[in-house]
Amino acid sequence: MRFSKASLLPLSLLASLVAGVDHVVTVGKGGQLKFDPESITAAAGDTVTYNFFARNHSVTQSSFDKPCQPLEGGFFSGFTPSVSPDTASPTTFRIIITDATKAIWAYCGQVNGNHCQKGMVHSINAPTSGTNTFQKFAELAAAAQTPSTSPADPSPVGGERKLSVVVGFNGTLTFSPNNITELPGTTVSFTFNPKKHTVTESTFDQPCQPKDQGFSSGFIPVASAPSNITFDIKIPDKKPIWFYCGQTTGNHCQSGMVGSINAPVDGAKTLQAYIDLAKNAPPSTIPAKAPLGGTVTQNGMIIGDFGGNTLPDATAAPPAASPNASVPLPQPGGQVDPYYAGMAGGNQPGNYNWGNPTISDTAVSLLLLTQLIEDILLHHIFDGHAKLTNGSWTGVYPKSIVRTLGSMGAQTLVHRKTATDCLAHYQKPIGGSCSLNLQTTSIDDYLGHALKLSLISIGLTIDTIVEVAASDSWLVPVLATGIGAKTRMTAVINMMQNHLAAAAPREALLPAQLAWSYATAHYVGSCPDTNKIAGMPDKPYPTLTVPTPNLKHNGTVTLQYDSSVAAGDKWVAWIGSWGDLKFTKLNEADKTASVPAELYGNVWVVVVSKQDVKLKELPGVTVAGPEMVWIAADN
Ligand SMILES: *[C@@H]1O[C@H](CO)[C@@H](O)[C@H](O)[C@H]1NC(C)=O
Ligand SMILES: *[C@@H]1O[C@H](CO)[C@@H](O)[C@H](O)[C@H]1NC(C)=O
Ligand SMILES: *[C@@H]1O[C@H](CO)[C@@H](O)[C@H](O)[C@H]1NC(C)=O
Ligand SMILES: *[C@@H]1O[C@H](CO)[C@@H](O)[C@H](O)[C@H]1NC(C)=O
Ligand SMILES: *[C@@H]1O[C@H](CO)[C@@H](O)[C@H](O)[C@H]1NC(C)=O
Ligand SMILES: *[C@@H]1O[C@H](CO)[C@@H](O)[C@H](O)[C@H]1NC(C)=O
Ligand SMILES: *[C@@H]1O[C@H](CO)[C@@H](O)[C@H](O)[C@H]1NC(C)=O
Repeated sequence: MRFSKASLLPLSLLASLVAGVDHVVTVGKGGQLKFDPESITAAAGDTVTYNFFARNHSVTQSSFDKPCQPLEGGFFSGFTPSVSPDTASPTTFRIIITDATKAIWAYCGQVNGNHCQKGMVHSINAPTSGTNTFQKFAELAAAAQTPSTSPADPSPVGGERKLSVVVGFNGTLTFSPNNITELPGTTVSFTFNPKKHTVTESTFDQPCQPKDQGFSSGFIPVASAPSNITFDIKIPDKKPIWFYCGQTTGNHCQSGMVGSINAPVDGAKTLQAYIDLAKNAPPSTIPAKAPLGGTVTQNGMIIGDFGGNTLPDATAAPPAASPNASVPLPQPGGQVDPYYAGMAGGNQPGNYNWGNPTISDTAVSLLLLTQLIEDILLHHIFDGHAKLTNGSWTGVYPKSIVRTLGSMGAQTLVHRKTATDCLAHYQKPIGGSCSLNLQTTSIDDYLGHALKLSLISIGLTIDTIVEVAASDSWLVPVLATGIGAKTRMTAVINMMQNHLAAAAPREALLPAQLAWSYATAHYVGSCPDTNKIAGMPDKPYPTLTVPTPNLKHNGTVTLQYDSSVAAGDKWVAWIGSWGDLKFTKLNEADKTASVPAELYGNVWVVVVSKQDVKLKELPGVTVAGPEMVWIAADN
């Protein structure tokens, strides 16, 4: 799917494309010639997974009018021979519903026993009344001519056919199944069990040695089952594929931990012949690099490169909770859905220019914080975007503005992915999702918070660049690319706010601890324990409120903050753009201070216990805040 005109589609559809329900349908369970359920209702974005039972069935899309004939361009699972009427085949077929308004009709194409004509038919989102109901379809199928037909190409099309293979089944040195017959185009998904196995391709002749250009998972150390670590390969053609476990402790390959895909059943090169050759093979080796020729996924996160051939134990990712937002968005760490990538105006982000063999702890903390801030911002943007697109705020702003805002949200998704990709590349755990308090009750609140969050993101990015420039210089261009998008976004928001003196907010550095504190205090409900970010305060600084945030040069600001803040000399620190930092004395009696003459536009204010410190020393002397104000010229 490629959505070059992505922003023309409503967000409600967009959102549902990425986070749907999976409907499970059994095919021939209990030996019956039935799909169960026969007829289902599914929303756009939902998936339907077909589980196959004995004997040898297919799920093939047809038209309503010709129930037992394949629909041109429709989906086809391929035939799935299966031995048990009660235990599902390890091969499944999954389709995605892209348009819930169109009925989908399907049948089993097995001619041996005329399955379609005997009632093995199925529908998704069929009308419940009128001439095109499921009942009518079943009647047409019963009367259809025999034999049924199937697509000329036996390979699956229009969905994902997947065979699951367990590696180290039940603690034994086996692949289960190991004697695989599968169609080209099928994904074989190896799931790893304890302790430390590989799936590595060999030639028939040299069973425990890697094949040149073959696939290899690398060593996958696993403490307990299920590990949620998989290695997926795709069967390219009908040629036999031979694979083994390269673990030398215990001689796994020589002990029979081998398997084949589409091996000949007779002649010299059968699976049994391969097993026999392996018994006497010299010690196993595997390629120095991993993964090769396939994809390793851990808890849904793709691990692109191990930096060797052993997946470090440290990659155990924290559990990801559901984001608490009205718009379902992909979890941190996954691929950017092609829809969002199109909306953001590009392809998958590709080259992050990973330069160092390791990453500094500071960079890890700041990337985790970036992930959190971008997660909040993108949920906030999409929440309002949904209301602006087809909700309570429809028509308030021109479509072109709303679309621009949507594309900024999608770019924010890419920025969050930048953070999680960099963490994953260095095998650092990525943060789970926090529950969020989005402040979108009125459109003014929505825009105000979108602006603040964008400025926090910009401020944090600049601070991060300052902090990592020496230790992790590769990260500088990676992060800098995000600033432009955020600045454009603030300009669009400024326009929507109809600020008379609409100077686009400029780029003020915000120390990371202040960014964390503001975001945590204002937008985060709760986070998984694993989301504690090193270097951040134990809890947010006391909240600072500015009842009248529209200020004037040389005017006065009145502040409010918690009465628990200890008495003593205090100043207001004013963080302006381009590195500007001013201090004015706070009158403790009435909590007022004068507004510096020089600053203009969006400015962060912080109450501090010491004046004339440097910007990066602010967190150490912060008493309350930060909060954002607007300073207008006085004429
Ligand atoms: C399953 O059925 C298909 C279609 O009739 C046939 O081509 C295939 O050989 C069958 N497979 C087995 C193992 O019987
Ligand atoms: C797993 O192994 C244990 C003993 O090692 C055995 O009792 C059990 O039946 C096995 N389970 C399966 C599903 O093979
Ligand atoms: C595997 O995933 C399941 C469900 O997502 C989760 O409950 C379990 O903790 C995960 N196991 C590991 C080892 O991460
Ligand atoms: C693999 O399966 C074939 C049938 O498809 C069978 O003839 C052969 O004996 C099996 N080989 C092993 C080693 O299980
Ligand atoms: C807008 O929302 C309404 C109600 O949820 C829905 O019926 C309608 O199809 C939507 N329109 C678009 C363009 O998404
Ligand atoms: C999500 O946030 C809303 C509003 O802040 C809150 O009412 C709700 O309980 C939260 N849900 C979860 C699961 O945290
Ligand atoms: C603000 O006050 C300073 C010092 O009191 C003064 O020099 C400056 O002219 C004033 N600026 C404006 C715009 O009033």
